[in-house]
Amino acid sequence: MPTTSRLQGRVAIITGAASGIGRATVDLFTAEGASVVAVDLPSSALGQVHGGHPAVVTLALDVTDADAPRRMVSTAVERFGGLDILFNNAGIVPVSPVAQMPEADWLRTFEINVHAVMRTCREAIPVMIERARTTGHGRILNTASILGHFSDHSCGAYSASKHAVAGLTKTLAKEVGRYGITANYLLPGAIETSMTAGLFAVPEVRTQWEQAAAVKRLGRPEDIARAALLLASDDAAFITGHGLVVDGGVTVTAGPQLPM
Ligand SMILES: NC(=O)c1ccc[n+]([C@@H]2O[C@H](COP(=O)([O-])OP(=O)(O)OC[C@H]3O[C@@H](n4cnc5c(N)ncnc54)[C@H](O)[C@@H]3O)[C@@H](O)[C@H]2O)c1
Repeated sequence: MPTTSRLQGRVAIITGAASGIGRATVDLFTAEGASVVAVDLPSSALGQVHGGHPAVVTLALDVTDADAPRRMVSTAVERFGGLDILFNNAGIVPVSPVAQMPEADWLRTFEINVHAVMRTCREAIPVMIERARTTGHGRILNTASILGHFSDHSCGAYSASKHAVAGLTKTLAKEVGRYGITANYLLPGAIETSMTAGLFAVPEVRTQWEQAAAVKRLGRPEDIARAALLLASDDAAFITGHGLVVDGGVTVTAGPQLPM
Protein backbone atom coordinates (compact mmCIF):
# COMPACT_ATOMS: atom_id res chain seq x y z
CA MET A 1 0.00 0.00 0.00
CA PRO A 2 1.59 3.35 -0.98
CA THR A 3 2.08 5.71 1.96
CA THR A 4 2.25 9.47 2.28
CA SER A 5 3.44 10.06 5.91
CA ARG A 6 0.14 11.72 6.69
CA LEU A 7 0.39 10.81 10.39
CA GLN A 8 4.10 11.47 10.89
CA GLY A 9 4.80 11.98 14.60
CA ARG A 10 1.19 11.39 15.70
CA VAL A 11 0.29 9.11 18.59
CA ALA A 12 -2.84 6.98 18.38
CA ILE A 13 -4.81 4.57 20.54
CA ILE A 14 -6.71 1.96 18.51
CA THR A 15 -9.05 -0.55 20.18
CA GLY A 16 -10.12 -3.83 18.65
CA ALA A 17 -6.63 -3.84 17.15
CA ALA A 18 -6.06 -7.59 16.82
CA SER A 19 -8.56 -8.21 14.05
CA GLY A 20 -10.49 -6.82 11.11
CA ILE A 21 -10.87 -3.04 10.91
CA GLY A 22 -8.70 -2.31 13.96
CA ARG A 23 -5.86 -4.49 12.73
CA ALA A 24 -5.88 -2.91 9.28
CA THR A 25 -5.94 0.56 10.84
CA VAL A 26 -2.92 -0.14 13.03
CA ASP A 27 -1.05 -1.31 9.93
CA LEU A 28 -2.06 1.75 7.88
CA PHE A 29 -1.52 4.33 10.64
CA THR A 30 1.97 3.03 11.44
CA ALA A 31 2.82 2.94 7.73
CA GLU A 32 1.76 6.61 7.64
CA GLY A 33 4.16 7.48 10.46
CA ALA A 34 2.05 7.15 13.62
CA SER A 35 2.99 5.45 16.87
CA VAL A 36 0.14 3.29 18.10
CA VAL A 37 -1.09 1.84 21.38
CA ALA A 38 -2.88 -1.24 20.03
CA VAL A 39 -5.54 -2.57 22.39
CA ASP A 40 -7.46 -5.83 22.37
CA LEU A 41 -8.57 -8.63 24.67
CA PRO A 42 -5.96 -10.82 26.40
CA SER A 43 -7.57 -13.80 24.61
CA SER A 44 -7.03 -12.18 21.19
CA ALA A 45 -4.09 -12.58 18.78
CA LEU A 46 -2.86 -9.05 19.58
CA GLY A 47 0.73 -10.08 20.43
CA GLN A 48 1.13 -12.30 17.37
CA VAL A 49 -0.36 -9.69 15.07
CA HIS A 50 1.49 -6.54 16.18
CA GLY A 51 4.20 -7.72 18.62
CA GLY A 52 7.72 -6.59 17.71
CA HIS A 53 6.62 -3.65 15.57
CA PRO A 54 8.83 -0.72 16.65
CA ALA A 55 5.98 1.82 16.45
CA VAL A 56 3.39 -0.30 18.26
CA VAL A 57 2.86 -0.97 21.97
CA THR A 58 0.36 -3.76 22.52
CA LEU A 59 -1.97 -3.54 25.49
CA ALA A 60 -3.97 -6.67 26.22
CA LEU A 61 -7.06 -5.65 28.15
CA ASP A 62 -10.82 -5.59 28.08
CA VAL A 63 -11.97 -2.05 27.23
CA THR A 64 -14.74 -2.41 29.81
CA ASP A 65 -12.29 -2.97 32.69
CA ALA A 66 -12.56 -0.18 35.26
CA ASP A 67 -8.95 0.88 34.82
CA ALA A 68 -8.78 0.29 31.03
CA PRO A 69 -9.20 3.97 30.03
CA ARG A 70 -6.47 5.06 32.44
CA ARG A 71 -4.11 2.29 31.26
CA MET A 72 -4.65 3.09 27.58
CA VAL A 73 -4.11 6.84 27.95
CA SER A 74 -1.20 6.58 30.38
CA THR A 75 0.54 4.09 28.07
CA ALA A 76 0.26 6.57 25.18
CA VAL A 77 1.71 9.34 27.34
CA GLU A 78 4.47 7.29 28.97
CA ARG A 79 5.59 5.42 25.84
CA PHE A 80 5.02 8.05 23.15
CA GLY A 81 4.75 11.39 24.97
CA GLY A 82 1.06 12.25 24.44
CA LEU A 83 -2.06 11.43 22.48
CA ASP A 84 -3.29 12.85 19.15
CA ILE A 85 -5.77 10.25 17.86
CA LEU A 86 -8.24 8.11 19.78
CA PHE A 87 -9.94 5.42 17.69
CA ASN A 88 -12.65 3.59 19.68
CA ASN A 89 -13.27 0.66 17.40
CA ALA A 90 -13.73 -2.48 19.54
CA GLY A 91 -17.26 -3.79 19.30
CA ILE A 92 -19.52 -6.84 19.44
CA VAL A 93 -22.69 -7.77 17.56
CA PRO A 94 -25.21 -9.96 19.38
CA VAL A 95 -28.20 -11.12 17.35
CA SER A 96 -31.61 -11.54 18.97
CA PRO A 97 -35.18 -10.31 18.54
CA VAL A 98 -36.13 -7.91 21.32
CA ALA A 99 -38.84 -10.29 22.58
CA GLN A 100 -36.15 -12.89 23.35
CA MET A 101 -33.29 -10.50 24.20
CA PRO A 102 -31.05 -11.98 26.91
CA GLU A 103 -30.51 -9.25 29.49
CA ALA A 104 -26.79 -10.04 29.60
CA ASP A 105 -26.41 -9.55 25.81
CA TRP A 106 -28.07 -6.13 25.94
CA LEU A 107 -25.92 -4.98 28.87
CA ARG A 108 -22.65 -6.34 27.48
CA THR A 109 -23.29 -4.71 24.10
CA PHE A 110 -23.76 -1.33 25.72
CA GLU A 111 -20.76 -1.87 28.03
CA ILE A 112 -18.40 -2.46 25.08
CA ASN A 113 -19.99 -0.47 22.23
CA VAL A 114 -21.04 2.61 24.23
CA HIS A 115 -19.98 2.86 27.88
CA ALA A 116 -16.32 2.00 27.22
CA VAL A 117 -16.26 4.53 24.37
CA MET A 118 -17.54 7.31 26.63
CA ARG A 119 -15.19 6.37 29.49
CA THR A 120 -12.16 6.26 27.18
CA CYS A 121 -13.07 9.64 25.69
CA ARG A 122 -13.54 11.04 29.21
CA GLU A 123 -10.04 9.90 30.19
CA ALA A 124 -8.39 10.93 26.93
CA ILE A 125 -9.86 14.38 26.33
CA PRO A 126 -7.88 16.33 28.97
CA VAL A 127 -4.65 14.78 27.68
CA MET A 128 -5.62 15.50 24.07
CA ILE A 129 -6.51 19.11 24.91
CA GLU A 130 -3.15 19.57 26.63
CA ARG A 131 -1.38 18.30 23.52
CA ALA A 132 -3.62 20.32 21.18
CA ARG A 133 -2.61 23.55 22.96
CA THR A 134 0.76 23.23 21.23
CA THR A 135 -0.06 21.16 18.14
CA GLY A 136 -3.46 22.69 17.34
CA HIS A 137 -5.01 19.35 16.47
CA GLY A 138 -6.51 16.16 17.83
CA ARG A 139 -8.80 13.46 16.44
CA ILE A 140 -11.49 11.29 18.02
CA LEU A 141 -12.87 8.52 15.80
CA ASN A 142 -15.56 6.09 16.87
CA THR A 143 -16.76 3.10 14.89
CA ALA A 144 -20.53 3.01 14.56
CA SER A 145 -22.19 1.13 11.67
CA ILE A 146 -24.77 1.68 8.96
CA LEU A 147 -26.99 0.18 11.67
CA GLY A 148 -26.28 3.42 13.55
CA HIS A 149 -28.55 5.11 10.98
CA PHE A 150 -30.83 2.22 10.00
CA SER A 151 -31.84 -1.10 11.52
CA ASP A 152 -33.25 -4.54 10.83
CA HIS A 153 -34.86 -7.32 12.84
CA SER A 154 -32.71 -9.02 15.51
CA CYS A 155 -30.31 -6.06 15.62
CA GLY A 156 -31.90 -4.20 18.54
CA ALA A 157 -28.97 -4.12 20.94
CA TYR A 158 -26.38 -3.50 18.24
CA SER A 159 -28.35 -0.86 16.36
CA ALA A 160 -29.31 0.99 19.54
CA SER A 161 -25.68 0.96 20.69
CA LYS A 162 -24.42 2.32 17.36
CA HIS A 163 -27.09 5.05 17.32
CA ALA A 164 -25.74 5.97 20.76
CA VAL A 165 -22.21 6.19 19.34
CA ALA A 166 -23.49 8.66 16.74
CA GLY A 167 -25.15 10.87 19.36
CA LEU A 168 -22.17 10.75 21.68
CA THR A 169 -19.77 11.67 18.89
CA LYS A 170 -21.82 14.67 17.76
CA THR A 171 -21.80 15.94 21.35
CA LEU A 172 -18.05 15.40 21.59
CA ALA A 173 -17.57 17.46 18.43
CA LYS A 174 -19.21 20.44 20.11
CA GLU A 175 -17.20 20.00 23.29
CA VAL A 176 -13.69 19.65 21.87
CA GLY A 177 -13.86 21.64 18.62
CA ARG A 178 -12.52 24.87 20.14
CA TYR A 179 -9.20 23.12 20.79
CA GLY A 180 -8.77 22.01 17.18
CA ILE A 181 -9.90 18.51 18.08
CA THR A 182 -12.45 16.86 15.79
CA ALA A 183 -14.79 13.99 16.63
CA ASN A 184 -16.29 11.85 13.89
CA TYR A 185 -17.77 8.38 13.52
CA LEU A 186 -17.53 5.76 10.82
CA LEU A 187 -20.49 3.85 9.48
CA PRO A 188 -19.09 0.72 7.83
CA GLY A 189 -21.39 -1.42 5.71
CA ALA A 190 -20.81 -5.13 5.16
CA ILE A 191 -17.12 -5.68 5.82
CA GLU A 192 -15.40 -9.06 5.68
CA THR A 193 -13.89 -9.58 9.15
CA SER A 194 -14.05 -12.17 11.96
CA MET A 195 -17.27 -10.51 13.09
CA THR A 196 -19.05 -11.32 9.82
CA ALA A 197 -17.17 -14.51 8.82
CA GLY A 198 -20.09 -16.79 9.78
CA LEU A 199 -22.62 -14.60 7.98
CA PHE A 200 -20.69 -14.35 4.73
CA ALA A 201 -19.78 -18.05 4.76
CA VAL A 202 -23.38 -18.65 3.64
CA PRO A 203 -23.15 -18.21 -0.16
CA GLU A 204 -26.68 -16.77 -0.62
CA VAL A 205 -26.12 -14.18 2.12
CA ARG A 206 -22.77 -13.23 0.71
CA THR A 207 -24.24 -12.79 -2.78
CA GLN A 208 -27.15 -10.75 -1.40
CA TRP A 209 -24.80 -8.27 0.28
CA GLU A 210 -22.46 -8.13 -2.72
CA GLN A 211 -25.36 -7.37 -5.01
CA ALA A 212 -26.86 -4.80 -2.63
CA ALA A 213 -23.65 -2.76 -2.86
CA ALA A 214 -23.35 -0.29 -5.72
CA VAL A 215 -19.75 -1.46 -6.19
CA LYS A 216 -20.84 -5.14 -6.16
CA ARG A 217 -18.49 -6.42 -3.52
CA LEU A 218 -18.12 -6.76 0.23
CA GLY A 219 -15.98 -4.24 2.06
CA ARG A 220 -12.47 -5.04 3.21
CA PRO A 221 -10.96 -3.90 6.52
CA GLU A 222 -8.57 -1.70 4.49
CA ASP A 223 -11.56 0.22 3.06
CA ILE A 224 -12.48 1.35 6.56
CA ALA A 225 -8.86 1.92 7.60
CA ARG A 226 -8.44 4.34 4.68
CA ALA A 227 -11.56 6.24 5.75
CA ALA A 228 -10.18 6.38 9.31
CA LEU A 229 -6.91 7.72 7.91
CA LEU A 230 -8.75 10.49 6.08
CA LEU A 231 -10.56 11.55 9.27
CA ALA A 232 -7.37 11.27 11.34
CA SER A 233 -5.31 13.34 8.92
CA ASP A 234 -4.87 17.09 8.54
CA ASP A 235 -7.10 16.93 5.45
CA ALA A 236 -10.10 16.50 7.76
CA ALA A 237 -9.43 19.49 10.04
CA PHE A 238 -12.80 21.05 9.15
CA ILE A 239 -14.84 17.82 9.27
CA THR A 240 -16.39 17.22 12.67
CA GLY A 241 -19.55 15.74 14.17
CA HIS A 242 -19.79 13.79 10.93
CA GLY A 243 -20.84 10.20 10.31
CA LEU A 244 -18.87 8.89 7.34
CA VAL A 245 -20.74 6.08 5.55
CA VAL A 246 -18.26 3.59 4.08
CA ASP A 247 -20.48 0.89 2.61
CA GLY A 248 -19.84 0.69 -1.13
CA GLY A 249 -23.30 2.12 -1.71
CA VAL A 250 -25.37 -0.45 0.22
CA THR A 251 -27.53 2.26 1.79
CA VAL A 252 -28.04 4.35 -1.35
CA THR A 253 -31.37 2.65 -2.03
CA ALA A 254 -34.25 2.85 0.46
CA GLY A 255 -36.73 0.00 0.14
CA PRO A 256 -36.57 -3.00 -2.20
CA GLN A 257 -33.92 -2.91 -4.90
CA LEU A 258 -35.14 -2.83 -8.48
CA PRO A 259 -34.06 -5.84 -10.57
CA MET A 260 -31.46 -5.09 -13.22
N1 LIG B 1 -17.54 -6.11 9.97
C1 LIG B 1 -18.59 -5.35 9.66
O1 LIG B 1 -19.32 -5.63 8.68
C2 LIG B 1 -18.88 -4.13 10.47
C3 LIG B 1 -19.89 -3.27 9.99
C4 LIG B 1 -20.19 -2.14 10.73
C5 LIG B 1 -19.50 -1.85 11.89
N2 LIG B 1 -18.55 -2.69 12.33
C6 LIG B 1 -17.87 -2.32 13.58
O2 LIG B 1 -16.48 -2.30 13.35
C7 LIG B 1 -15.79 -2.51 14.58
C8 LIG B 1 -14.70 -3.53 14.36
O3 LIG B 1 -15.31 -4.75 14.01
P1 LIG B 1 -14.65 -5.80 13.00
O4 LIG B 1 -15.63 -6.04 11.93
O5 LIG B 1 -13.25 -5.41 12.67
O6 LIG B 1 -14.70 -7.10 13.92
P2 LIG B 1 -13.57 -8.08 14.48
O7 LIG B 1 -14.33 -9.06 15.29
O8 LIG B 1 -12.70 -8.56 13.38
O9 LIG B 1 -12.72 -7.14 15.43
C9 LIG B 1 -13.23 -6.63 16.63
C10 LIG B 1 -12.13 -6.69 17.66
O10 LIG B 1 -12.64 -6.08 18.88
C11 LIG B 1 -12.13 -6.83 19.96
N3 LIG B 1 -12.94 -6.65 21.15
C12 LIG B 1 -14.23 -7.06 21.33
N4 LIG B 1 -14.61 -6.79 22.59
C13 LIG B 1 -13.55 -6.21 23.20
C14 LIG B 1 -13.34 -5.72 24.50
N5 LIG B 1 -14.30 -5.81 25.46
N6 LIG B 1 -12.13 -5.18 24.81
C15 LIG B 1 -11.14 -5.13 23.88
N7 LIG B 1 -11.30 -5.57 22.62
C16 LIG B 1 -12.49 -6.12 22.30
C17 LIG B 1 -12.16 -8.28 19.46
O11 LIG B 1 -11.32 -9.12 20.24
C18 LIG B 1 -11.73 -8.13 18.02
O12 LIG B 1 -10.32 -8.30 17.86
C19 LIG B 1 -16.87 -2.90 15.59
O13 LIG B 1 -17.20 -1.80 16.40
C20 LIG B 1 -18.03 -3.29 14.72
O14 LIG B 1 -19.27 -3.13 15.39
C21 LIG B 1 -18.21 -3.82 11.65
